[in-house]
Amino acid sequence: MAVKLADDKREWYKTAVFYQIWVRSFADGNHDGIGDLYGVYDKLDYIKSLGATAIWFNPLYPSPNADYGYDISDYCDINPEFGDMDQFKKVLNRAHELGMKVVMDLVVNHTSDEHPWFKESRKGGDDNPYRDYYIWRDKPNNWDSLFEGDAWEYDDVRGQYYLHLFAKKQPDLNMDNPKVREEVKNILRFWLDLGVDGFREDVINFISKKEGLPNGIGFIPVIGQMHNYKDGPHIHEYLKEFREVCDEYGAVQIGEGPMTTVDSALNYLSGRTKSMDMMFSFDHMTADCLFTEYMHRPFKLIRLKKALSRWQYKLADRAWNSLYLENHDHPRVISRYGSEKFHRASGTCLATAYMFLKGTPFIYQGQEIGMTNIRLKSIDDYVDVSSKTNYNKYHLKESVASRLHRIHLSSRDSARTPMQWDSRDNAGFSDVKPWFFVNPNYKDINVAAEEERPDGILNYYRTCVKLRAKSKTLIHGSYKEYDPENPLVYMYERNLGKESYIIICSFAKENIPFMLPKGFAGHTAKLVLTNYPRKRKTGEIGILPKKGLRLSPYEAMVIKMKRK
Ligand code: NOJ
Repeated sequence: MAVKLADDKREWYKTAVFYQIWVRSFADGNHDGIGDLYGVYDKLDYIKSLGATAIWFNPLYPSPNADYGYDISDYCDINPEFGDMDQFKKVLNRAHELGMKVVMDLVVNHTSDEHPWFKESRKGGDDNPYRDYYIWRDKPNNWDSLFEGDAWEYDDVRGQYYLHLFAKKQPDLNMDNPKVREEVKNILRFWLDLGVDGFREDVINFISKKEGLPNGIGFIPVIGQMHNYKDGPHIHEYLKEFREVCDEYGAVQIGEGPMTTVDSALNYLSGRTKSMDMMFSFDHMTADCLFTEYMHRPFKLIRLKKALSRWQYKLADRAWNSLYLENHDHPRVISRYGSEKFHRASGTCLATAYMFLKGTPFIYQGQEIGMTNIRLKSIDDYVDVSSKTNYNKYHLKESVASRLHRIHLSSRDSARTPMQWDSRDNAGFSDVKPWFFVNPNYKDINVAAEEERPDGILNYYRTCVKLRAKSKTLIHGSYKEYDPENPLVYMYERNLGKESYIIICSFAKENIPFMLPKGFAGHTAKLVLTNYPRKRKTGEIGILPKKGLRLSPYEAMVIKMKRK
């Protein structure tokens, strides 16, 4: 029987560092070329060695893989490609023994069209209990899906259209139906009874759609229409029901919501409508694109800083931020916001820039060794449904090479190449041919090689995690940005009482001078972290210089300072 926990009992997430696992590409333990829970089990000590205290698993459930696990055909089982329930329990127990929490992906905006509910619902019929589990209409409205053309698909069996905001094989559930909400609560209880610690909740802001499903207007259709299906009129009412179940177990809830603005996020994170402990922001993921990576534009540090600061300032003491630069939906961050040429420097600089913000850091598999985007020869080599749609729908007048380059910059597949463990064949991911292409740079970029590099990206991540873990200021202190208009340097302070940490990150590809803002020179300070250890020594640096600093390409540092 679950015991209701006081709110602060679940606040473990505030001091946590999450490691995110997209299992299919993490480690193959049963020699079939597909990552699985046997592979995960073997790597739990590695994850622990990063200092991670929690794991978020992307969907592990049975799925036909139209959207690699986000099209679920059974919510209460394990995809046989990944193992079985016994293996999951082993992983869960071992993770717990190692002091790591486990968070599952909850995907209830839609199911797979192969889910038994949908198979029943298609049959229609007045006394069919599944009849209204999905959103059926005689006439579609003008909505577009995010992944595959029109948001409506005609179903011959039922003789009606069903709504799918994502791929055709992902029909949207009708959350207005109380029976569907009961199903969701049963799913929550099923996993919580097994002992999981919480959920990352997929496109959770889409589960309540505007009454009557009105046509959308706007220049870019999907964006104009999205206002009709995000943050709908009953969203907080439904989420309250789910929250009550999670409250019984003290389970953490992390919401994912495309197009969530900081103001709408606050409605999920605070006040009477609080249903989530954290929300994933998308704002800072558009520093090199508009809306999605496919609409590429040159990276601008100012855009990144503005987005990060907006969330830091607005949430401040009212709510808690989630911090990430990579996940399974975005290309690799070194290839985007850093530089493959300055691989180590930019990888460590990016780590510094986000790990010390106020909030809970998430590290995505491979990010900690600086994995980069893959470049494939033909669109047929890519497997992600949204990459294929983008390629076939936009910029059709451009050459194949140019369209492929766009895919190279934007595809989610870059985050989904097999994890690079060592320099053996298949990057040590599997001893047979992997299900997807391994990035050819694996001989140089891999875990084993990084273990041998004291100043490499992997060990730098470990140092960041340790530094954050032992400092109240870095966890709970306030945030202040300096020099926001500086296009090359990101500088912020975390402060608690008299103690401050100053984080300085140069995103320039050349040496640049940097003047400390007023109020810093003359203070006694200590350098606690540098990504240029041959140039600077950590330890006392005495009085901060008046003449400023000379920063190397992607140089980053953390300075600890006592304020008078
Ligand atoms: C967000 C998930 O992160 C993404 O991978 C998925 O394709 C969509 N939601 C649809 O479930």
